[in-house]
Amino acid sequence: MNISKDIIYVGVNDHDIDLFEGQYVVPLGMAYNSYVIVDEKIAVMDTVDARFGDEWLTNIDAVLCGRTPDYLIVQHMEPDHSANIKKFVEKYPNVSVVGNSKTFNMIANFFPDFEISAKTEVKNGETLSLGKHNLTFVFAPMVHWPEVMMTYDDCDKVLFSADGFGKFGANDVEDPEGWDCEARRYYFGIVGKYGAQVQAVLKKAAALDIQVIAPLHGPVLTENIGYYVNKYDTWSSYKPEDEGVSIAYCSIYGNTKKAAEMLYDKLVAKGVEVKIADLAREDIPEAIENAFRFSKLVIAAPTYNADVFPFMRTFLEGLAERGYRNRTIGIIENGSWAPMAAKVMKGILEKCKNITYLENTCKITSAVKESNIAELDAMVEEICK
Ligand code: FEO
Repeated sequence: MNISKDIIYVGVNDHDIDLFEGQYVVPLGMAYNSYVIVDEKIAVMDTVDARFGDEWLTNIDAVLCGRTPDYLIVQHMEPDHSANIKKFVEKYPNVSVVGNSKTFNMIANFFPDFEISAKTEVKNGETLSLGKHNLTFVFAPMVHWPEVMMTYDDCDKVLFSADGFGKFGANDVEDPEGWDCEARRYYFGIVGKYGAQVQAVLKKAAALDIQVIAPLHGPVLTENIGYYVNKYDTWSSYKPEDEGVSIAYCSIYGNTKKAAEMLYDKLVAKGVEVKIADLAREDIPEAIENAFRFSKLVIAAPTYNADVFPFMRTFLEGLAERGYRNRTIGIIENGSWAPMAAKVMKGILEKCKNITYLENTCKITSAVKESNIAELDAMVEEICK
């Protein structure tokens, strides 16, 4: 696949992976993107996951037409992109590996038995010329590791964005939900903690004329670049993306579930956009994604071992560690003899900034009663106010 006359896609699709980064389900698979820039000098942008080294090298061979690459540019050292550095340098011993000082420290740590013979160490803002293509390195620390750098090609106006603007899903599988959903789940799962650092990169990117975004995962973005940049601006500034309610619940015997579903039905009847998730049975990263997407969140859980039910703890800790903020939260708790869930849930979210709690709550003692239905009605009224 050609990105431009000189930039060719040489990445791979992974349909065998069960959990990306050891934790994220990826029902549509995963893509590890890599690109070759053919000019007077030839640069290869990143490697791919360890399991795809041979396929990737074959893809590169097909575009080199007998030439040999001059540079391997390492934008990110996480093994899904760096695993084949040694294999590549062994195949092309004259190649110079391009990275920054942090990159080379990480290469030494990941490949202890391997010494790079030729390296080009670059600084933030420095440019490497391939001929027509001048590549400028835009450091993007913590998007998603400290050594990350993006690369801007001023000839074809391409931003190679490392993990930024990435998405779950293989590139040869059509995503029925389009780009947003799996890109959002990827963003909040993987980069969500680093909103300030993403904002810093977006400020640098605003100075560039970007016509193509070439990330390390997911599709190459060639149209409506402003749309994707705006999404990243919203996500990284922790603003709600849509008005609506995300309901996340846990239930042991179905009583808390009943209240959560009643709330869902009442909100839908009022025309509110609502998503609901059973945290024990559905994907928690998806529930986290929806909590960030919507302006309001309702959490519903039973007390368990004088704490909150464990899946809710995992969910809330996932929100807190990603800097969840600027949202309104409603609480439904259940406790048959010593209710603790509401107190524990609020405690986990204590460090989240700018959280407003609904004045109305629903407190269930074992089973949902008429008084609880009135509490749910009051919550709905307050949400819709
Ligand atoms: Fe796609 Fe942070 O690695």
